[in-house]
Amino acid sequence: MQRTLAIIKPDAVQRRLIGKIISRLEEKGLEIIALKMTTISEDMARENYSVHEGKEYFDKLVKFMASGPVVILVLRGKNAIEVTRRLMGSTSGHEADAGTIRGDYAMSGRFNLIHGSDSVETAEREISLFFENETLLEHEMSDLRWVYDMPGENLF
Ligand code: TYD
Ligand code: MG
Repeated sequence: MQRTLAIIKPDAVQRRLIGKIISRLEEKGLEIIALKMTTISEDMARENYSVHEGKEYFDKLVKFMASGPVVILVLRGKNAIEVTRRLMGSTSGHEADAGTIRGDYAMSGRFNLIHGSDSVETAEREISLFFENETLLEHEMSDLRWVYDMPGENLF
């Protein structure tokens, strides 16, 4: 099972979309193995988005991410990184496909509601930036054999 980090960004919190966004991640079958609501510092935002350093949008992105409360989650599942990014939709809200989180609720390219890690290395780096390893749940949801169609495997 793969892990990924998602951040429900300040615009989504202000627009009271936390519940809708978490529902989509949950209903897909991803397991939430850590979750917290917090305000991140500009330093943490800079660190999370360090690969974008030098881009013209970087400073505004950092200020936006630190501008209000966010909800940070660690999600676990088969291909969790790719699955989460497909649920998010493409970066710019007005271009994102209908049916995705950004496609259904966002119009902006910066205020685009949700962050998701984009590779295994990035996911592990981002998870360790926001969570101590021992705070990640090891509990397995009891419905996994129905979600993954695997009676007889792993769980029995
Ligand atoms: P990026 O990693 O390209 O997008 P994604 O969030 O889909 O992985 O960019 C990170 C964030 O930077 C993006 O969510 C919003 C912001 N951003 C801008 O503000 N302007 C831009 O032109 C781009 C490419 C990104
Ligand atoms: Mg990205």
